[in-house]
Amino acid sequence: MTMTPSLRKFALSVHIAVSVGWIGAVFAYIAIVVATPASQNARTVPAAWIALEPVMRYVLIPLAFASLLTGLVMAIGTRWGLFLHYWVIISFLLTIIATIVLLTQVESVSILASAAGMTPLRGPLWVYLLHPIGGLLVLLVVLALNVYKPECLTPYGWRKQHGRRRE
Ligand code: HEM
Repeated sequence: MTMTPSLRKFALSVHIAVSVGWIGAVFAYIAIVVATPASQNARTVPAAWIALEPVMRYVLIPLAFASLLTGLVMAIGTRWGLFLHYWVIISFLLTIIATIVLLTQVESVSILASAAGMTPLRGPLWVYLLHPIGGLLVLLVVLALNVYKPECLTPYGWRKQHGRRRE
């Protein structure tokens, strides 16, 4: 089930746009969390916390699912396959983990947004940065894997490539 060259280019463009866009949105999220407590403007603080929720719900989560889905299409629809190369399997697993961790954070961001301006931040700033920075590092690892594509076949990939079959 291999895509035609023009379809592959189109699908790859969509995959890169949503996946790298996801990384860009995480940078924006981190910037809001880091810059807001330092703001001198009393209105900026609640406004910024409120902004985090739509960024999470309507940007980060849709991009995470889009990256996962288009990544699957790229794997299944090209010679790379989903289970032939370790870099594809690791990308798939890391992206699933990053998406699950993202989903677990929706509730705490909603609480932060609804309490915006009424209560000061509980705990030190780094607590709020742990998940986005951890997630960013995971996504950068996936990005590097996808660009470098280390030539390391799985046993299944090796058998397929060398035309061998188990008796
Ligand atoms: C944050 C997550 C991801 C990022 C940032 C990302 C980024 C990229 C980039 C930049 C490329 C283009 C590389 C090149 O052409 O040299 C690419 C290609 C590719 N990605 Fe991803 N990706 C992500 C997730 C995934 C996932 C989850 C999968 C598999 C399930 C996947 C499978 C692939 C495959 C198979 C290609 C090669 C397509 C081809 O050359 O025909 N990616 N990815």
